[in-house]
Order: sequence, then structure tokens, then C-alpha cells
Amino acid sequence: MSESTSTGQSTSTYTYTYADASSSKSKNRGESSTSMADTSSRYASSVPESPRGVKDKSVAWATRTGRQTWILLKKNWAVARVSRRSTTVQLVVPVLAILALFILSFAYKENQQFNDSQQPQRSPSTESIRPYPRCISGRLSVGPCISIAWVLENAASLSAGARDLVGRVVERIRVDAGLPTSEVRQFGSRSELDSYLLSHPNSTQGGYEFAVREPAVPSGGRVVEHLSYTIQYNKTSTYSFGTKVDSQEYTLLPMTAAVERALLAELGSQVYTGSASVNDDIEYSLSLLEFARPEEFQADLIALAGPTFVYAALLFNFVIVLGAVVSEKEKHLREAMRLMGLRSLPYWTSWAVTAFVFNVISVFIIIISGAIFQFRFFLENDFRTYFVLFLLFAAAMVPVALFLSVFVSKAATATSLGFIVFLVGTMAQVFQQLVYGESGEGTIYPILASLVPPVLLSKGMFDIASYTDQTDDRGMSWSQRDSTSNFPLTSVYEWMIADVFIFAILLWYADTIASKGERFYFPFSPYYWGLLSRHDASDAGASQPSDEALEALGESGAGKTHDANVHAQLADAKASRGAFAGNDGLKVYGLRKEFTSRQWCGLRKSVFVAVQELVLGVPADSLFVLLGHNGAGKSTSFNMLLNLFGPTAGNAYVFGMSIKTEMDRIRAVMGVCPQHDILWDELTAREHLELYARLKDIPGDEVYNEVEARLADVGLTSVGDVTAGAYSGGMRRRLSTAIAFTADPRIVFLDEPTTGMDPVSRRQVWNLIQAKKAGRVIVLTTHSMEEADVLGDNIGIMAAGRITTIGTARYLKSQYGTGSKITIIPKSESARARIADFVAERLDGIQPDSHVGDLDYVIPLETVDKLGEFLTDFAARKRKLGAVNLVLGSVSLEEVFLRVAEVDHEYDAGSSSTTSA
Ligand SMILES: Nc1ncnc2c1ncn2[C@@H]1O[C@H](COP(=O)(O)OP(=O)(O)OP(=O)(O)O)[C@@H](O)[C@H]1O
Ligand SMILES: [Mg+2]
Repeated sequence: MSESTSTGQSTSTYTYTYADASSSKSKNRGESSTSMADTSSRYASSVPESPRGVKDKSVAWATRTGRQTWILLKKNWAVARVSRRSTTVQLVVPVLAILALFILSFAYKENQQFNDSQQPQRSPSTESIRPYPRCISGRLSVGPCISIAWVLENAASLSAGARDLVGRVVERIRVDAGLPTSEVRQFGSRSELDSYLLSHPNSTQGGYEFAVREPAVPSGGRVVEHLSYTIQYNKTSTYSFGTKVDSQEYTLLPMTAAVERALLAELGSQVYTGSASVNDDIEYSLSLLEFARPEEFQADLIALAGPTFVYAALLFNFVIVLGAVVSEKEKHLREAMRLMGLRSLPYWTSWAVTAFVFNVISVFIIIISGAIFQFRFFLENDFRTYFVLFLLFAAAMVPVALFLSVFVSKAATATSLGFIVFLVGTMAQVFQQLVYGESGEGTIYPILASLVPPVLLSKGMFDIASYTDQTDDRGMSWSQRDSTSNFPLTSVYEWMIADVFIFAILLWYADTIASKGERFYFPFSPYYWGLLSRHDASDAGASQPSDEALEALGESGAGKTHDANVHAQLADAKASRGAFAGNDGLKVYGLRKEFTSRQWCGLRKSVFVAVQELVLGVPADSLFVLLGHNGAGKSTSFNMLLNLFGPTAGNAYVFGMSIKTEMDRIRAVMGVCPQHDILWDELTAREHLELYARLKDIPGDEVYNEVEARLADVGLTSVGDVTAGAYSGGMRRRLSTAIAFTADPRIVFLDEPTTGMDPVSRRQVWNLIQAKKAGRVIVLTTHSMEEADVLGDNIGIMAAGRITTIGTARYLKSQYGTGSKITIIPKSESARARIADFVAERLDGIQPDSHVGDLDYVIPLETVDKLGEFLTDFAARKRKLGAVNLVLGSVSLEEVFLRVAEVDHEYDAGSSSTTSA
């Protein structure tokens, strides 16, 4: 087999053959097998699962979930401890909310004092009747100022005596009130008075309408048989300096008293003495006395504004948790943890517990500060009634936050979303009384509203507050929670518990679709529940490709290059029909990735092919280096292999396990150093390593040793307790590399591990990688040719999504040059031209790499033989030609890289295509 795949050149040492791979394995077995055996016995998860009892499995599952949850809780705690500012804010906000409520309650009570009737009146005092209401002359009044407007009905038909009597009564009123005569006017009829009042608003306060009946037969000087009067007054409420002017008190009573006083004086004298003014000097006074009464209504702001403030206080935690979860997603930290074996359940559980603990703390702070500020709500109601309410509300908001986090990918958006949730929740609270009132009974609305936890909170607080808003209320007892009308407190509790489960299920559903790429109907799919194996169903096509697919394989990828080794790999892949099931490192079979972007509102669809049908094999126990220019598709290939996103086509196998269906098992034996550091700024290097070690199921008592060993590997021991946020770029890279090697992985992906490192650190990491090579497959990308040269067993050069050449460093150098080069330093520009001519003449017309400065030549293979003779000749004529010096060197990978880029330039065009959809 090695015959068929070797390039036929004596210099070729690249061996992509199963036979060679296994021989290299057996060669290494001596040193590596111990560690491999060790690994599998120590970490049960790193070996393929063996059939075990269901009970054992579920116990293992439970302990694993518990352990992962615990370490994630530790992580959340460490992050919260370091980000002190937001933690402090979280704790202070509830106090501020209650304080604001307290201040507001003062304003509220103050406002209520304007409303006299709500003030208590224990020992009322008598009040004299107010003075006669004079007309108001001012901005709003029109025309003359008339205080006593009066009418005598049918005056024309009455006798002079009767008219005089009424006239005297009016005159007495005027004199008593001390009014000038100009303020008195008699009107001819009621309609005349009405129309005057209508056209002169806000001036005259009231009017009298007298009616008299004269006796049929006048006797004894009696001129009037029956006298009646009607008082006209303005009933419209008016306000003076913010106080309501009560027309009863200010108009009606004084006018009545005035006319009664006048009538008594006038008629009394007539009845008893027959002459006027006898009883004039009788002091006649009226006064008023209010009832004594208790306080009518005690202001309880909690019922009105409390729900909003408690909601606001707890929503702070909501926003912070939402932001933290989303930022973990934004920074790809969750992906990184998933690569290291994190499951979804511990992830969400840990966040739920963290959020709930914060909420419980806030609830206690709210209750304590409520009691300190002497709110009767907190002092007189049974503690359990509102504590359970707040606690359940806090619990219900947790899954809501986590559920919403699935739909947000930017932390900044999360804050805005929190604000919207606050607004919506506050507005929804307004409907509480409508929905749960009698009108809502028997409709769907109470059920819909109960799906919104803030509405339930509002309802519950309102009900509890109703037990403390009257002076003699004793507060709600625990047993009264069932007794409130048609939607008792117990129902509020039950609905909140229901909301916890409803939102938890929604979270599970949305997250499974979002993070695992399941279809929307997955809960009904037997594959999801593991009742049917996906391997049998969907993977069959990939492991048993059709003849057409095999024929087409490599047409757009490997087939386009001239490199013999690449073709050999392709042929091998075709020959094995993609059945890379052997236990043999990494096998990549036609991986392809297209990125689709839509412009013009989705009308224009452009497809960009980032990786074109990658065919690659990496034998066990070897290090493969992927070189390539920026954007060549190296990271994209990695991400497909890590299953961060699915390939558009193709498949790959890690130790025979498919990346499409057996990723869970692959993750257990895989270590990853991503191109961009995925670290928590708040965690120290030790905390990072501990987190990942535990996620990878290292037994508790070995974690310490593991962490220290990895720190020592990369030389971070002395700064192991410094948070990663304070690290330099190179230190962060080293930490990422250390993480990749945590828990003895069998395959390690390192995406540019040494980028940004100083030469010393770089050497250190090279030594580390070199030392770790045994017994592992390491795939590494880099831009450093030196690194590839030093570390790589095999090197692949990637350009525009294809591997264009592959082989050992020596193979590549020989393939793209002889491995030799010469540099000649000329004395002057004219000497340069002379030397160039001389070299071209002697060495088959080769041209220097550049047109200025030193003359660099790479010696082509067919010219190598002439090199010896040339050197002798050159030494003899050196002085004459005007050359300072000649340096003989070997070709660097860099030159190969540049040559490859040149050779393959012709393929660069056409790697992206635009289609209209
Ligand atoms: N999510 C994406 N959506 C669209 N295009 C993408 C996406 N990820 C990568 N690409 C494109 O795919 C190509 C390959 O990118 P990739 O990150 O794999 O390059 P690379 O070889 O790792 O480069 P570098 O050396 O700079 O890290 C680039 O042109 C890039 O723009
Ligand atoms: Mg990259």
C-alpha cells in the first residue's frame, strides 16, 4: 500500500497508509501504551461505553450531573465574587426599592390630608355659619357684582303690603350682611333671573325666589297668608387654592340662615306685636357641629405601588442573570464547556440555582427593609403569606430569564430585553384587578394572566394588603389564604409553581432546538429519546457513499491540485469507500462547508465555500500541522471537526467515531484550544483548570494534581491565582493550551496555540507539545513555518478551502525546490546585474526572487548537479564580478508556502459563487 501512495520520489517520506500508521503506532507503543491504558482505566468516559446495567447507568448519570452542577455553581460563585460591583448593586437595589416606597408613602399620606373626610375626628368643635356669600368680582366674572339676586313671583298682582313685606325681608338680609344697596337686584321672574345667572357666571353666588299668597279676606292687618322661598345656588364644585369649596357650607347654609333670620325678625314682629322692629335686637345665631368619627381609610401604598417596586427589585437580578447567561453564550464559553463534556441539564440547573439564590437573598432584604420601614404589610400579615408569595415569584422568574436567554445572542440586547420585560410586566399588573375580579370569572383571562408571574405577584400582594389597609385590620393569617374570593392566595401559589414548570419546559424545548440543532418536532422523535439509533438511519449514507458520490469526491477540492500526496489520499479515501471505521486517528472524508449570506432582504443569496471537500488522514500518534493563509479555512475545518457547526457535506471519524453521531463519546477524549481565547475574565487559571478537569470527570482527589501539573506545563504556576482578565495575551494562550491538555485527551486540536507569544514562551509550548505527542493525535494550525517545521510530523498547506499539498517538512521542501538556496550579496547595482547574468548563464537561466538588494536563488531540482561546479567558478571570479559574499542555505518552509500560494493562485478565483434565489 505504501507503494501506491508514495510519490515515487526518493525524497518522499510522507506516509499516509494504514500499514505505516500502524507501524508507527507499534513503534511508539513502548512509551505510549502505559499512558493510554492508564487513561482508560482512570477515566471511564474516555473508553467506548460498555454495556452496563440501566441502574448503574442512571446512577452514573445522576452523579455526573450532580458533579457538573456543583462545579458550575462554584464557577458562578467565583464570577459573582469577583464582579463585586454588580453583586453589590444586586443586594442594594431591594433596599432602595423599599426606601423609595417609604418616601412615596409620605407623599401619598400628605396628599390624602387634603381630603378632610378621610381624617379622623375624635372631638369635633362647633363651627359658626359662614358669612353671607358675596358676589365675586374678578377675572372670571362679567358685569355688575350682585350679591342678593331675588325674585318675587307675580309681584305685579300682589298688594303693596305683601310686596313691602318681602322687600323688607330682603333689606334686612342686606343690612345684616353689611352689603351696599348696589349689590341687591330684584328680577321680574325666575326665567329672567336664570338668564341673568347664565350670562353672568361665577359672580352671583345665589338667589332667592319668594312666593306669597295673600288671604282671600284681609283681617287684622294680616297681609300674607302663606310665604315660601326657594334658594338658588351653584352646585358645581369649585376649588379655591386647591381646596374644594363646598357649596352647602359656603352658600346654602349662610343664605338659609340669612333669610331665616330676616323672616324671623320681620314676621315675628308682625305676629306678636303688629309693629315692625320690636324683636330686632334678639341675637339669633346658628352653628354646626360635625360628628365625631374614626379614621375612614388608612393609606396603604403597598396595595397600589408595592407590586411594581417588588417586581422592579427582583427584576434587577433577572436582568443580571439574563446578561450573564447571554454573555457566556456570546463569548462562546458555553460551547467551550460543551466541548469539554458539559451537558445541558447541569448547565441550566447551575444557572437556575444561582439566580434563585440571588432572588432569595433579595426577597429577604425586601422583607427585612419593609419591616424596618414599618410597613404594616410586613408587620401585621402572617410572615408565611407574603414570604411564600415572594419566594414562588422569585422561582417563577428564573426559568423565564433562562428561557429568554435562548433567543438573545448579545449581552447588550439582553439588557434592553430586561427593560422590555419590566415594562410589559408592570403594564400587565394593571390588569390584575380586572382579570381576577368578578367579571373575569368563568373566562379564559385569569388563566392567561396566570402565565405571567408579575400579574400573579400583583394579585397576591393586593389581596394580602387588603388585610392591612383599615385601621382596625389585624392582618392576614396563614389559614386565610384560601378564603379570598374567587381566586384565593392558594391559587396564586399554585399558578406560580405551574409557571416554573411551564417555563422550564419551554426552556428545554427552545434550548434543544437552538443549541443541539434538533428539529421543532423533536419531542416526538424516537431518535431524540434514543429509542432508535441515528447511526443506523442517517449516517448510513455517509459511511457507505454511493458510487456517484465517490466519483465526484475531490472534484472541487483535492482533485484540483497537482500534489501527488493529496491525490494519493484521495485515491485511498475512494478505495476505502469512506469506511473510516478503523481505530486510527483522524479521518476526514469530503468535509465541505458553505456559508450562506442573504442580502436584499433575502432575495440575493450568496454562497461562500469556506472549505472544499477536505480529504485527510492523520495516523495515530502523530502531529499534523495545518498551514494556510488567513481565511484559508483552517478554523472552519476545526469547527466542523469539533461539531461547533455541522458540515454542509461529508463526515469525519475520530478513532472510528463519527463526528455526526458520536460526538458525545468523542468529546470525552478530546482537548481543544480555540483560536480566540475562550476564558472567563473573572476566573483564575487554577479555577479554569479545575472547572475543566471536573467537567471531564477527573476524580475529585486527582483534580489538584492535574491542575498543578497543567499549570507547570505552561509555566503559569506562579500566577495561577491571578484572574485571567489580568493576563497578557501570551499568558491567555498558554492557559488555553493547558486547558486543551487537561484530563489526558487522546486527540487534541490546537488552533494557532502560539500566536502572540514571546520566543521563550513559544519554545516552552513547543517543548510541551513535543512532550505530549506520544500516544496522542494532535492537530495544530499555525502561521509560523518554524513551528510547523519543528513540530509537524506531517504538514498540510491549505489555500482557499483546499489542502493543496501535504507531506513531511522535508517532502515539501524537496517538492517545491531542492532544499537548497544561495544568496549573493553584490557590491553595487552594476555588480548586481553582472552577477545575475553570470548565475543565469551557469545555472540554466534561473532568476533571482527579487529585483533589488541581495540576490536570492532557490535551486531547482534539475539544476542541483551543476551547483558544485558553479560554486568553484564563482569563488574564482568573486572579486571580478563585484560580489561581497555568497551564502549557501537550505530552503525554509516559508519559501515553500509562498511557492505553493503562487502555484495555486489559479484556483483561487471561483471559490465563491453568487446565486439568485
Ligand atoms: N460564520 C461564518 N460565516 C461566514 N463566513 C465565514 C464564517 N466563518 C468563517 N467564514 C469565512 O470562511 C473563510 C475561512 O475562515 P477561517 O476562519 O476558517 O480561516 P482561517 O484559515 O482559520 O484563517 P486565520 O488564519 O485568519 O485564522 C473566511 O473567508 C471567512 O470569512
Ligand atoms: Mg483561524
